[in-house]
Amino acid sequence: MKLLGIESSCDDTAAAVSQGVHLLSNVRSSQLGHQAFGGVVPELASRAHDQAITAVVESALSEAGVTLEELDGIAVTLGPGLMGSLLVGLSFAKGLAAQTGYPLIGVDHLDAHKMAAWVGKEDHDIPYPYVALVVSGGHTRLEHISGPSSEDIRLLGETRDDAAGEAFDKIGKMMGLGYPAGPVVDTLAQTGDPNRFSFPQSMLDQPYEFSFSGLKTHLRRFLEDEYGIVSDLEQDELKHRLGDELPDLAAGVNVAITEVLRKKAIEACEHTGARTLVVAGGVSANTLLRNTLLSSCDEHDITLHIPPIDLCTDNGGMICRQAYHLVLRGQHDTPLEPYARQWMNKTTY
Ligand code: KG4
Ligand code: ZN
Repeated sequence: MKLLGIESSCDDTAAAVSQGVHLLSNVRSSQLGHQAFGGVVPELASRAHDQAITAVVESALSEAGVTLEELDGIAVTLGPGLMGSLLVGLSFAKGLAAQTGYPLIGVDHLDAHKMAAWVGKEDHDIPYPYVALVVSGGHTRLEHISGPSSEDIRLLGETRDDAAGEAFDKIGKMMGLGYPAGPVVDTLAQTGDPNRFSFPQSMLDQPYEFSFSGLKTHLRRFLEDEYGIVSDLEQDELKHRLGDELPDLAAGVNVAITEVLRKKAIEACEHTGARTLVVAGGVSANTLLRNTLLSSCDEHDITLHIPPIDLCTDNGGMICRQAYHLVLRGQHDTPLEPYARQWMNKTTY
Protein backbone atom coordinates (compact mmCIF):
# COMPACT_ATOMS: atom_id res chain seq x y z
CA MET A 1 0.00 0.00 0.00
CA LYS A 2 1.39 3.40 -1.03
CA LEU A 3 0.38 6.46 0.99
CA LEU A 4 1.07 10.17 0.72
CA GLY A 5 1.30 11.81 4.17
CA ILE A 6 0.88 15.56 4.69
CA GLU A 7 1.80 17.45 7.89
CA SER A 8 1.21 21.17 8.47
CA SER A 9 0.20 21.51 12.12
CA CYS A 10 2.80 24.11 13.14
CA ASP A 11 5.69 25.69 11.22
CA ASP A 12 6.99 22.81 9.09
CA THR A 13 5.31 22.01 5.78
CA ALA A 14 6.05 18.33 5.28
CA ALA A 15 5.07 15.47 3.01
CA ALA A 16 6.22 11.88 2.60
CA VAL A 17 5.41 8.81 0.55
CA SER A 18 5.41 5.37 2.13
CA GLN A 19 5.02 1.82 1.00
CA GLY A 20 3.77 -0.29 3.89
CA VAL A 21 5.94 0.54 6.90
CA HIS A 22 8.79 1.92 4.78
CA LEU A 23 9.35 5.51 3.66
CA LEU A 24 10.11 6.19 0.01
CA SER A 25 10.59 9.92 0.62
CA ASN A 26 10.31 12.43 3.46
CA VAL A 27 10.41 16.11 2.50
CA ARG A 28 10.22 19.08 4.84
CA SER A 29 10.24 22.82 4.35
CA SER A 30 10.90 24.66 7.63
CA GLN A 31 9.61 28.20 7.89
CA LEU A 32 12.32 30.72 8.68
CA GLY A 33 10.07 33.79 8.88
CA HIS A 34 9.36 33.22 12.58
CA GLN A 35 12.96 33.67 13.73
CA ALA A 36 12.66 37.44 13.94
CA PHE A 37 9.72 37.03 16.34
CA GLY A 38 11.28 34.35 18.57
CA GLY A 39 8.25 32.06 18.14
CA VAL A 40 5.67 30.89 15.63
CA VAL A 41 3.34 33.63 14.36
CA PRO A 42 0.13 31.73 13.40
CA GLU A 43 -0.93 34.01 10.54
CA LEU A 44 2.55 33.89 8.97
CA ALA A 45 2.62 30.12 9.41
CA SER A 46 -0.59 29.45 7.50
CA ARG A 47 0.45 31.77 4.65
CA ALA A 48 3.84 30.05 4.42
CA HIS A 49 2.19 26.60 4.38
CA ASP A 50 -0.05 27.76 1.57
CA GLN A 51 2.96 28.91 -0.45
CA ALA A 52 5.04 25.77 0.18
CA ILE A 53 2.60 22.89 0.16
CA THR A 54 2.31 22.21 -3.57
CA ALA A 55 6.09 22.11 -4.08
CA VAL A 56 6.64 19.97 -0.96
CA VAL A 57 4.06 17.39 -2.05
CA GLU A 58 5.47 17.35 -5.60
CA SER A 59 9.00 16.80 -4.23
CA ALA A 60 7.80 13.99 -1.96
CA LEU A 61 6.22 12.21 -4.94
CA SER A 62 9.16 12.76 -7.29
CA GLU A 63 11.80 11.75 -4.70
CA ALA A 64 9.79 8.58 -4.08
CA GLY A 65 9.52 7.95 -7.82
CA VAL A 66 5.78 7.54 -7.39
CA THR A 67 3.06 9.22 -9.43
CA LEU A 68 -0.24 10.43 -8.03
CA GLU A 69 -1.95 7.61 -9.98
CA GLU A 70 0.11 4.98 -8.14
CA LEU A 71 -1.02 6.00 -4.64
CA ASP A 72 -3.60 4.08 -2.61
CA GLY A 73 -4.52 6.79 -0.13
CA ILE A 74 -3.79 10.23 1.29
CA ALA A 75 -3.10 10.88 4.98
CA VAL A 76 -3.16 14.24 6.72
CA THR A 77 -2.77 15.69 10.21
CA LEU A 78 -6.09 16.75 11.77
CA GLY A 79 -4.69 18.15 15.04
CA PRO A 80 -3.69 19.21 17.59
CA GLY A 81 -2.02 22.30 16.17
CA LEU A 82 -2.60 25.80 14.86
CA MET A 83 -6.02 25.90 13.24
CA GLY A 84 -4.99 28.02 10.23
CA SER A 85 -1.97 25.79 9.57
CA LEU A 86 -3.97 22.58 9.91
CA LEU A 87 -6.59 23.89 7.50
CA VAL A 88 -4.02 24.44 4.76
CA GLY A 89 -2.87 20.79 4.87
CA LEU A 90 -6.37 19.42 5.29
CA SER A 91 -7.87 21.48 2.45
CA PHE A 92 -5.01 20.49 0.16
CA ALA A 93 -5.43 16.81 1.06
CA LYS A 94 -9.21 17.01 0.61
CA GLY A 95 -8.69 18.52 -2.83
CA LEU A 96 -6.30 15.75 -3.84
CA ALA A 97 -8.65 13.08 -2.49
CA ALA A 98 -11.59 14.56 -4.40
CA GLN A 99 -9.53 14.73 -7.60
CA THR A 100 -8.20 11.16 -7.35
CA GLY A 101 -11.03 9.41 -5.52
CA TYR A 102 -8.54 7.97 -2.99
CA PRO A 103 -9.48 7.51 0.68
CA LEU A 104 -8.44 10.38 2.94
CA ILE A 105 -7.10 9.30 6.33
CA GLY A 106 -7.08 11.81 9.20
CA VAL A 107 -4.23 11.39 11.68
CA ASP A 108 -3.61 12.69 15.20
CA HIS A 109 -0.27 14.52 15.36
CA LEU A 110 0.76 13.13 18.77
CA ASP A 111 -0.16 9.54 17.88
CA ALA A 112 1.90 9.99 14.72
CA HIS A 113 4.93 11.20 16.72
CA LYS A 114 4.80 7.96 18.73
CA MET A 115 4.50 5.84 15.58
CA ALA A 116 7.69 7.46 14.20
CA ALA A 117 9.53 4.90 16.33
CA TRP A 118 7.94 2.18 14.15
CA VAL A 119 8.86 3.48 10.73
CA GLY A 120 10.47 0.50 8.99
CA LYS A 121 9.09 -1.90 11.61
CA GLU A 122 5.88 -3.93 11.51
CA ASP A 123 2.92 -3.38 13.84
CA HIS A 124 3.41 -6.78 15.45
CA ASP A 125 6.82 -5.53 16.70
CA ILE A 126 5.12 -2.97 18.99
CA PRO A 127 5.47 -4.34 22.54
CA TYR A 128 2.32 -3.45 24.51
CA PRO A 129 1.98 -2.20 27.15
CA TYR A 130 4.42 0.68 26.94
CA VAL A 131 4.89 4.13 28.41
CA ALA A 132 5.17 7.02 25.95
CA LEU A 133 6.91 10.29 26.74
CA VAL A 134 5.74 12.81 24.15
CA VAL A 135 7.90 15.92 24.19
CA SER A 136 7.40 18.57 21.54
CA GLY A 137 7.07 22.32 21.19
CA GLY A 138 3.40 22.19 22.14
CA HIS A 139 3.12 19.11 24.37
CA THR A 140 4.80 17.31 27.23
CA ARG A 141 2.92 14.27 28.41
CA LEU A 142 3.26 10.75 29.72
CA GLU A 143 0.89 8.09 28.47
CA HIS A 144 0.35 4.42 29.22
CA ILE A 145 -0.54 2.49 26.09
CA SER A 146 -1.91 -1.01 26.55
CA GLY A 147 -2.93 -1.86 22.98
CA PRO A 148 -3.16 -0.66 19.38
CA SER A 149 -6.38 1.34 19.40
CA SER A 150 -6.99 4.86 20.66
CA GLU A 151 -9.10 3.51 23.55
CA ASP A 152 -5.97 1.82 24.87
CA ILE A 153 -4.22 5.15 25.52
CA ARG A 154 -4.33 6.50 29.07
CA LEU A 155 -2.99 9.92 29.94
CA LEU A 156 -0.81 9.68 33.06
CA GLY A 157 0.07 13.37 33.27
CA GLU A 158 1.14 16.39 31.31
CA THR A 159 2.63 19.83 31.69
CA ARG A 160 0.72 22.41 33.67
CA ASP A 161 2.27 25.28 31.74
CA ASP A 162 5.06 25.32 29.14
CA ALA A 163 5.91 22.25 27.10
CA ALA A 164 9.54 21.06 27.21
CA GLY A 165 10.26 22.35 23.68
CA GLU A 166 8.59 25.64 24.52
CA ALA A 167 10.85 25.93 27.61
CA PHE A 168 13.94 25.34 25.44
CA ASP A 169 12.70 27.94 22.95
CA LYS A 170 11.73 30.61 25.49
CA ILE A 171 14.86 30.26 27.62
CA GLY A 172 16.99 30.13 24.46
CA LYS A 173 15.36 33.34 23.30
CA MET A 174 16.39 35.04 26.57
CA MET A 175 19.96 34.00 25.77
CA GLY A 176 19.83 35.28 22.17
CA LEU A 177 19.80 31.87 20.53
CA GLY A 178 17.05 32.49 17.96
CA TYR A 179 14.10 30.21 17.17
CA PRO A 180 13.77 27.28 17.54
CA ALA A 181 16.38 27.33 20.29
CA GLY A 182 16.16 23.66 21.34
CA PRO A 183 18.69 22.35 18.78
CA VAL A 184 21.03 25.32 19.49
CA VAL A 185 20.95 24.69 23.26
CA ASP A 186 21.62 21.00 22.53
CA THR A 187 24.70 21.78 20.41
CA LEU A 188 26.10 24.49 22.71
CA ALA A 189 25.61 22.26 25.75
CA GLN A 190 27.94 19.68 24.27
CA THR A 191 30.91 22.00 24.78
CA GLY A 192 29.73 23.40 28.11
CA ASP A 193 30.22 22.30 31.72
CA PRO A 194 26.95 20.71 32.91
CA ASN A 195 28.00 21.02 36.57
CA ARG A 196 28.79 24.74 36.69
CA PHE A 197 25.19 25.93 37.03
CA SER A 198 22.51 24.04 38.88
CA PHE A 199 19.09 25.17 37.69
CA PRO A 200 15.84 23.97 39.34
CA GLN A 201 14.21 20.68 38.35
CA SER A 202 10.53 21.14 39.11
CA MET A 203 7.70 18.91 40.36
CA LEU A 204 9.85 15.88 41.04
CA ASP A 205 7.51 15.04 43.95
CA GLN A 206 4.54 14.59 41.57
CA PRO A 207 5.35 11.64 39.34
CA TYR A 208 3.44 12.44 36.16
CA GLU A 209 2.96 16.22 36.19
CA PHE A 210 5.37 18.66 34.58
CA SER A 211 5.95 22.38 34.96
CA PHE A 212 8.67 24.39 33.24
CA SER A 213 7.53 27.97 33.87
CA GLY A 214 9.43 28.08 37.20
CA LEU A 215 12.68 27.29 35.39
CA LYS A 216 11.94 30.03 32.87
CA THR A 217 11.33 32.60 35.64
CA HIS A 218 14.45 31.44 37.48
CA LEU A 219 16.55 31.93 34.33
CA ARG A 220 15.06 35.36 33.66
CA ARG A 221 16.03 36.55 37.16
CA PHE A 222 19.40 34.81 37.04
CA LEU A 223 20.32 36.39 33.69
CA GLU A 224 19.24 39.80 34.96
CA ASP A 225 21.11 39.53 38.29
CA GLU A 226 24.31 38.00 36.92
CA TYR A 227 24.59 39.55 33.47
CA GLY A 228 22.24 42.56 33.44
CA ILE A 229 20.09 40.93 30.76
CA VAL A 230 16.64 42.52 30.41
CA SER A 231 13.90 41.39 28.07
CA ASP A 232 14.06 44.09 25.39
CA LEU A 233 17.69 43.54 24.37
CA GLU A 234 18.39 42.56 20.74
CA GLN A 235 19.39 38.93 20.13
CA ASP A 236 22.89 39.92 18.95
CA GLU A 237 23.45 42.07 22.03
CA LEU A 238 22.34 39.18 24.25
CA LYS A 239 24.78 36.81 22.59
CA HIS A 240 27.52 39.41 22.91
CA ARG A 241 26.92 39.95 26.63
CA LEU A 242 26.78 36.24 27.43
CA GLY A 243 29.70 35.38 25.13
CA ASP A 244 31.83 32.58 26.54
CA GLU A 245 29.26 31.84 29.22
CA LEU A 246 26.77 30.48 26.67
CA PRO A 247 27.97 26.84 26.52
CA ASP A 248 27.91 26.44 30.34
CA LEU A 249 24.52 28.18 30.60
CA ALA A 250 23.13 25.99 27.81
CA ALA A 251 24.53 22.88 29.51
CA GLY A 252 22.84 23.87 32.79
CA VAL A 253 19.48 24.48 31.10
CA ASN A 254 19.81 21.28 29.11
CA VAL A 255 20.38 19.23 32.28
CA ALA A 256 17.50 20.90 34.16
CA ILE A 257 14.96 20.11 31.41
CA THR A 258 16.13 16.68 30.29
CA GLU A 259 16.68 15.34 33.81
CA VAL A 260 13.04 16.03 34.73
CA LEU A 261 11.94 14.22 31.57
CA ARG A 262 14.26 11.27 32.18
CA LYS A 263 13.35 10.82 35.85
CA LYS A 264 9.60 10.98 35.26
CA ALA A 265 9.66 8.66 32.25
CA ILE A 266 11.60 6.00 34.19
CA GLU A 267 9.32 6.45 37.20
CA ALA A 268 6.23 6.04 34.99
CA CYS A 269 7.58 2.72 33.70
CA GLU A 270 8.33 1.54 37.24
CA HIS A 271 4.91 2.62 38.60
CA THR A 272 2.87 1.08 35.80
CA GLY A 273 5.06 -1.99 35.35
CA ALA A 274 5.61 -1.27 31.65
CA ARG A 275 8.98 -2.57 30.43
CA THR A 276 9.08 -0.51 27.25
CA LEU A 277 9.48 3.25 26.89
CA VAL A 278 8.80 5.18 23.68
CA VAL A 279 10.06 8.78 23.49
CA ALA A 280 8.78 10.98 20.68
CA GLY A 281 8.37 14.58 19.50
CA GLY A 282 10.92 17.26 18.62
CA VAL A 283 12.69 17.26 22.01
CA SER A 284 13.46 13.54 21.64
CA ALA A 285 16.16 14.67 19.17
CA ASN A 286 18.07 16.06 22.16
CA THR A 287 21.49 14.41 22.48
CA LEU A 288 21.70 14.45 26.27
CA LEU A 289 18.14 13.15 26.68
CA ARG A 290 18.80 10.30 24.24
CA ASN A 291 22.08 9.34 25.94
CA THR A 292 20.88 9.53 29.54
CA LEU A 293 17.66 7.66 28.75
CA LEU A 294 19.64 4.96 27.04
CA SER A 295 21.77 4.31 30.13
CA SER A 296 18.87 4.71 32.59
CA CYS A 297 16.68 2.29 30.64
CA ASP A 298 19.55 -0.17 30.53
CA GLU A 299 19.97 0.12 34.32
CA HIS A 300 16.24 -0.41 34.93
CA ASP A 301 15.84 -3.21 32.39
CA ILE A 302 13.51 -1.12 30.22
CA THR A 303 13.58 -1.34 26.41
CA LEU A 304 13.86 2.12 24.88
CA HIS A 305 12.51 3.13 21.47
CA ILE A 306 13.35 6.61 20.13
CA PRO A 307 12.88 7.49 16.44
CA PRO A 308 15.99 8.38 14.44
CA ILE A 309 16.76 12.12 14.71
CA ASP A 310 15.19 13.09 11.36
CA LEU A 311 11.88 11.51 12.40
CA CYS A 312 11.74 13.22 15.83
CA THR A 313 10.64 16.68 14.71
CA ASP A 314 7.48 17.17 12.63
CA ASN A 315 7.55 15.20 9.39
CA GLY A 316 5.28 13.56 6.85
CA GLY A 317 6.79 10.09 7.38
CA MET A 318 5.22 9.76 10.81
CA ILE A 319 1.84 10.71 9.32
CA CYS A 320 2.19 7.93 6.72
CA ARG A 321 3.18 5.39 9.41
CA GLN A 322 0.28 6.25 11.72
CA ALA A 323 -2.16 6.20 8.77
CA TYR A 324 -0.91 2.75 7.79
CA HIS A 325 -1.38 1.59 11.40
CA LEU A 326 -4.99 2.87 11.30
CA VAL A 327 -5.68 1.23 7.92
CA LEU A 328 -4.36 -2.14 9.12
CA ARG A 329 -6.78 -1.95 12.05
CA GLY A 330 -9.70 -0.68 9.97
CA GLN A 331 -9.78 2.48 12.11
CA HIS A 332 -9.15 5.01 9.36
CA ASP A 333 -12.72 6.05 8.74
CA THR A 334 -12.85 8.90 11.26
CA PRO A 335 -14.45 12.36 10.83
CA LEU A 336 -12.15 14.72 8.94
CA GLU A 337 -12.52 17.68 11.29
CA PRO A 338 -9.44 19.69 12.32
CA TYR A 339 -8.90 20.33 16.05
CA ALA A 340 -6.60 22.74 17.84
CA ARG A 341 -6.46 20.82 21.11
CA GLN A 342 -6.92 17.27 22.27
CA TRP A 343 -8.57 16.61 25.63
CA MET A 344 -7.86 13.43 27.53
CA ASN A 345 -8.88 12.37 31.01
CA LYS A 346 -6.09 11.46 33.35
CA THR A 347 -5.79 7.96 34.75
CA THR A 348 -4.48 7.31 38.24
CA TYR A 349 -2.25 4.28 38.68
O1 KG4 B 1 7.54 17.97 17.45
P1 KG4 B 1 8.04 19.28 16.98
O2 KG4 B 1 8.85 19.30 15.71
O3 KG4 B 1 6.88 20.31 16.78
C1 KG4 B 1 5.75 20.33 17.62
O4 KG4 B 1 4.90 19.43 17.49
O5 KG4 B 1 5.76 21.23 18.48
O6 KG4 B 1 8.90 19.90 18.17
C2 KG4 B 1 9.53 21.13 18.03
C3 KG4 B 1 10.24 21.44 19.34
C4 KG4 B 1 10.81 22.85 19.38
O7 KG4 B 1 10.42 23.45 20.60
C5 KG4 B 1 12.31 22.63 19.31
O8 KG4 B 1 13.07 23.62 19.99
C6 KG4 B 1 12.44 21.28 19.99
O9 KG4 B 1 11.34 20.54 19.53
N1 KG4 B 1 13.68 20.59 19.60
C7 KG4 B 1 14.69 20.31 20.46
C8 KG4 B 1 15.70 19.69 19.70
N2 KG4 B 1 15.28 19.60 18.40
C9 KG4 B 1 14.04 20.16 18.36
N3 KG4 B 1 14.81 20.53 21.77
C10 KG4 B 1 15.95 20.14 22.37
N4 KG4 B 1 16.97 19.54 21.70
C11 KG4 B 1 16.89 19.30 20.39
N5 KG4 B 1 17.91 18.71 19.74
ZN1 ZN C 1 5.16 17.74 16.58
